[in-house]
Amino acid sequence: AAGKVAREEPLANKTTLRVGGAARVYVEPADAAELQEVVRRVHARGLPLRMLGRGSNLLVPDAGVDGVVVSLRRAGWETFTPLEDGRVRVGAGLRLKNLCGLAAKAGLQGFEFLEGIPGNLGGALRMNAGAMGGWMFDVVDALELLTLAGERMTLRRDELHVGYRHCRELEQAIAIGAVLRPATVSEATKISRQIDVYRSKRQESQPREPSAGCIFKNPGDDSAGRLIDMCGLKGERIGDAEVSTVHGNFIINRGHATSAEVIELVRRVRAEVQRQTGTELQP
Ligand code: EPU
Repeated sequence: AAGKVAREEPLANKTTLRVGGAARVYVEPADAAELQEVVRRVHARGLPLRMLGRGSNLLVPDAGVDGVVVSLRRAGWETFTPLEDGRVRVGAGLRLKNLCGLAAKAGLQGFEFLEGIPGNLGGALRMNAGAMGGWMFDVVDALELLTLAGERMTLRRDELHVGYRHCRELEQAIAIGAVLRPATVSEATKISRQIDVYRSKRQESQPREPSAGCIFKNPGDDSAGRLIDMCGLKGERIGDAEVSTVHGNFIINRGHATSAEVIELVRRVRAEVQRQTGTELQP
């Protein structure tokens, strides 16, 4: 293979929370043909397969991950190709920050909300990532995926079932790219100004230490962070895992946190919020 294959590959440094053990087998396919080959072989042997995006919404167990972990972080997956009809085709490995920047440069408006989301397109599609009132699937026109049997498919937006932090079609499939539709064409400077507004808003309200973003989904129209804050849980700590004092829905790694400590803290926060407010938060 032209990509990378390794055994016992440490995963902690491939996640933003920086905890957890190694992948028994780790693969970085160079292109779609290689990915397809890997997926088919893994499928034929009945092994578990896990996709790793940029690792920003992920808690890797301390014992590591059995089976095969696949990451689309080779350069060949970071494509950004404007089409003649005004849309743009993007590879699953492109970071949202870069997508946001490239779109701004090209005068394509509608991607500004992606500015601060630490992930790549594939992960953002998988969980319909969102910020600042925008969701990934707001800008998706077509989704390119690979089934776990290794079959390539393209689905139109109206064939997809998406919701808050959810896309049904990707529960059992791998996002390999998407065709995105900008809201409108605008001046690059106007777009950059909007990106700056979002950036300062985020820097004021979210911690800078290693974290996995928000730990819980928001319940209904409320904010899990607001509830955790209200329950007096900010600063709560187990080992090096700590509920951020900046935003209650972030658990930060103070240096040498373990996965077990993070999980214990998640449980404690969940139980305490339930006890005080009756709301059961979902990770
Ligand atoms: N709030 C508090 N205390 C806190 C945190 C928040 O009182 O500790 C209050 C804020 O003052 C504000 C309200 O709660 O009035 C909402 O807070 P914020 O604007 O930070 O939004 P959020 O609902 O807590 C959501 C997303 C974030 C996204 C932000 C900004 C979820 C679970 N979280 O947070 O997404 O960045 O909006 O748009 O949907 C993520 O999903 O990982 C994530 C970070």
